[in-house]
Amino acid sequence: MLLELSRINKSFKNGKNREKILENLNLKVFKGESIAIKGKSGCGKSTLLNILGGLISFEEGEMMFDGTNISKLTANERAEYRRKNVAFVTQNFHLLDDRNVFDNIALPLQYIRMPKKEIKSRVEEVMCDLEIQHTMKRNILTLSGGERQRVAIARAIVKEPSILLADEPTGSLDEKTEESILTIFDELHHKGMTLIIVTHDDSVSSHCQHVYELHHKKLNYVNS
Ligand SMILES: Nc1ncnc2c1ncn2[C@@H]1O[C@H](COP(=O)(O)OP(=O)(O)O)[C@@H](O)[C@H]1O
Ligand SMILES: [Mg+2]
Repeated sequence: MLLELSRINKSFKNGKNREKILENLNLKVFKGESIAIKGKSGCGKSTLLNILGGLISFEEGEMMFDGTNISKLTANERAEYRRKNVAFVTQNFHLLDDRNVFDNIALPLQYIRMPKKEIKSRVEEVMCDLEIQHTMKRNILTLSGGERQRVAIARAIVKEPSILLADEPTGSLDEKTEESILTIFDELHHKGMTLIIVTHDDSVSSHCQHVYELHHKKLNYVNS
């Protein structure tokens, strides 16, 4: 088991009250699995993904990652868990518009102080895998939506994380571009990466081994 959530409870303050978003939620994820999470807008999908990625904490329950109890970590230790193990891809890409493609992808490696030469070869390898070498020197603002999403995925996987968390990664892409992104996810899955993808889109979830729906604050298994 790579990741296990047991009886997770999460609420947010809403004016004077607290609103419960997740209640006694359970999830088991084995290494190398691909999982889709569906559910209505506002039901808590992004909240769940942020918990899985160690971005936010929760009030009750337990989250185990590869034998480590993430629920017991301090915020700093959680950040370390995130840096080491987790890649995030979001709908809005969150790329740095004032840097070129190479620099955007290199950023996480500079952050962990990888030597320059290694950074260069690793970034080139990832750009090659995602077929974006030709955009290397271009500014982010000059790229199409599909190219930006490839750069965002490249930046997410450049550290070779064990899990890729994607929050509606094809939400703003046209059908053809979406297909090319799905091919990339398929390839990452075949390479053994664990994928957890939040999506509204049936064509995205049909690429995943397991599909859950977040409903009434819990995950329900839809199919395998
Ligand atoms: N930081 C926050 N503070 C307060 N409420 C939040 C916060 N983040 C999310 N929420 C609320 O939690 C609910 C679930 O949000 P979210 O996880 O973004 O849903 P989804 O991704 O399924 O659309 C929403 O009602 C949202 O307004
Ligand atoms: Mg969301």
